[in-house]
Amino acid sequence: MLWQLAFRQTVHHYSTDVCWTPMVLAKEFNRNQFARDSDLTISTTGPELPTIAQFGSNSPLELSRASSLAAPFVNGIDLNCGCPQSWACAETLGAALMEKRELVRDMVVATRQRLREDGWAVGKEEDMHNPDGKGRSVSVKIRVHHDLRKTVDFITTVLGDEQNRNIDWLTIHPRTRYTQSSVPINLEALELLTNMFGDKLPVLVSGDVFTLSTLPYTSHLLATQPTFTSSDSKLETNKAPTSENQRPYLPKLAGLMSARALLANPALFAGYERCPWEAVDIFMNNVARAPLPLKLGIHHLTEMCGAGFGPDRSALLSKGERIRLTEFDNWIDVIDFIDGIKKIRGLEPMVRLASL
Ligand SMILES: Cc1cc2nc3c(=O)[nH]c(=O)nc-3n(C[C@H](O)[C@H](O)[C@H](O)COP(=O)(O)O)c2cc1C
Repeated sequence: MLWQLAFRQTVHHYSTDVCWTPMVLAKEFNRNQFARDSDLTISTTGPELPTIAQFGSNSPLELSRASSLAAPFVNGIDLNCGCPQSWACAETLGAALMEKRELVRDMVVATRQRLREDGWAVGKEEDMHNPDGKGRSVSVKIRVHHDLRKTVDFITTVLGDEQNRNIDWLTIHPRTRYTQSSVPINLEALELLTNMFGDKLPVLVSGDVFTLSTLPYTSHLLATQPTFTSSDSKLETNKAPTSENQRPYLPKLAGLMSARALLANPALFAGYERCPWEAVDIFMNNVARAPLPLKLGIHHLTEMCGAGFGPDRSALLSKGERIRLTEFDNWIDVIDFIDGIKKIRGLEPMVRLASL
């Protein structure tokens, strides 16, 4: 997730409760000031949005040190046990950790211990609303195994004592390390694991959250209700299964994580089926306050102005227009180009900083 501050601010504007940073290598983060500055972009002018620093690590000492450095600037620490890239797995990082359940347990235990020693409140639900703002979470993001018994053993080991568990929550990406992202998520695995563990800790799902109306399962989460950070919602109740609706109902699911579709449509969690122009304006205004490297900003724009992942495949910009966007070498030209397109389409120019 290439989610630096300006993009995190944009999704937060559209009802996303929590963002994860891109995976940061704990060992580099500990040793290199440049890695700390470039990997963890935080707001210096206002309250930071709920953000989780995600680390790649295979060492309790490295992870706990990196967590100690990051904790003042984020709301929690997450350990990546899902990255399937070969370079990561070769270093026993990411999805390779799915074969190292005791090591993962030792890493989260050491991290929680280090944060406690540093004075952070790591009492899970008890410290969620810590009045001093000291509450910090420790969580893990996993994939599943072909043999789900291994996943059950993994979660049971990492969780530890249910009365005093080692992690605050768990995010499950129900694909194996070898499953292509074009293959739909494993719903049976998701149903089994949420039913088995959903009462023991909050379980979030990552994978194929394309729009809220096209989830491959139904969930009470989509009933109109206040979220952590917003009091209203445009969402309609996503009903429990009926005879014509065979999607599994997941009563114990605690949250939805989106990557590809949220990149294309930052307004997804506010119920939008595709990216509105307004989201582009908001992103550009956020970039002005929290600058991004030009190429990364343009990458975000081409994602947001593309066809997206929902049933409505209409794009804000044509393919040719998106290619043109990638050719600019400064922000002024990017803004002029977008304003020019909006003018041709009879839309208002970009909303400027002062009026937001
Ligand atoms: C561009 C990109 C970057 C990603 N980076 C991370 C990452 O740093 N850490 C992580 O746990 N998952 C990462 N993922 C995986 C997603 O979190 C997610 O598990 C996966 O893409 C499936 O969800 P989706 O269908 O919503 O895309 C990344 C995915 C994409 C597309």
